[in-house]
Amino acid sequence: MPTIAVTAATGQLGRLVVDALLERGVDPASIVAAVRTPDNAQDLAARGVQVREADYTKPDTLKAAFQGVDRVLLISSSEVGQRAAQHANAIAAAEDAGVELLAYTSVLQADTTTMLLAAEHQETERRLAQATVPVALLRNGWYTENYTGQLEVTLEHGVVGSAGEGRVAPAPRRDFAEAAAAVLTGEGHAGRTYELAGDEALTLTEIAALIGEATGKDVGYTDLPVEAYTEVLSKAGLPAPVDGVIADSSAAIGRGELTTDSGDLARLIGRPTTPVADAIRADVGAAAA
Ligand SMILES: NC(=O)c1ccc[n+]([C@@H]2O[C@H](COP(=O)([O-])OP(=O)(O)OC[C@H]3O[C@@H](n4cnc5c(N)ncnc54)[C@H](OP(=O)(O)O)[C@@H]3O)[C@@H](O)[C@H]2O)c1
Repeated sequence: MPTIAVTAATGQLGRLVVDALLERGVDPASIVAAVRTPDNAQDLAARGVQVREADYTKPDTLKAAFQGVDRVLLISSSEVGQRAAQHANAIAAAEDAGVELLAYTSVLQADTTTMLLAAEHQETERRLAQATVPVALLRNGWYTENYTGQLEVTLEHGVVGSAGEGRVAPAPRRDFAEAAAAVLTGEGHAGRTYELAGDEALTLTEIAALIGEATGKDVGYTDLPVEAYTEVLSKAGLPAPVDGVIADSSAAIGRGELTTDSGDLARLIGRPTTPVADAIRADVGAAAA
């Protein structure tokens, strides 16, 4: 059985990938949770998973973490602006360890998207194209949780964005995690690029209506020009340039950059992706619990 390392395993996606690997019957001792802060992974260690320090800003920790590892999932960092350099450190460490597969969580349509948020993923994909180890690209679309993560704010202000009548095809993190686990445990994924998104594409008006149904509240969608939405985000406390980058990401929905008809996510997980209404209902239920 190959040894599989998951970086950022203390993050929301990373934890779900570890869960999905265990659900697939992977021996916990063959899983390496490669994390920035090992103290935050005590629950994973208690399940028999190996926990090793792997900080994207500390190349030595990455090299040590990947020793003896066969397959690595590099989960993109949350430190926007620092990510390309951080990912390059992880890629170098995977090369150093001579892994047989390096999978990377990129962004949907990375080769054509104009979304500002995609720039660091594009730089990372360019570095991966030069990698000396086999690579698989998991180009993740939007999480459904992006719309349910701040439920109180959404119930107060409704869904706000710059997507117009554009459509987004979200799927819950769990679906993306299962897809990553399928790639990490399967064969024939080296050299492949997967465009991963939900089966259904909805407008933000439709998503707002689903949140309304799930909560029993009146939730609408307010569409704003990018500049106005940036200002709203800025007033809500987001620093520049993050405010503008987030507003641009919403406009990317209007540009058709957050859907795909590839069917890759459903194929990898061996079932239809979770219906958006079900995912929203589950998140609303979890928030109320
Ligand atoms: N597709 C989407 O809709 C979407 C939405 C948001 C983000 N993303 C991207 O997908 C990634 C995973 O999503 P998520 O929901 O799991 O995000 P998350 O819960 O914020 O997790 C981010 C992870 O990155 C780790 N990290 C940050 N800096 C690091 C460093 N210097 N060294 C090692 N690890 C570091 C964090 O470590 P700690 O646990 O120590 O904090 C955390 O585990 C995000 O980081 C982001 O790149 C995608």
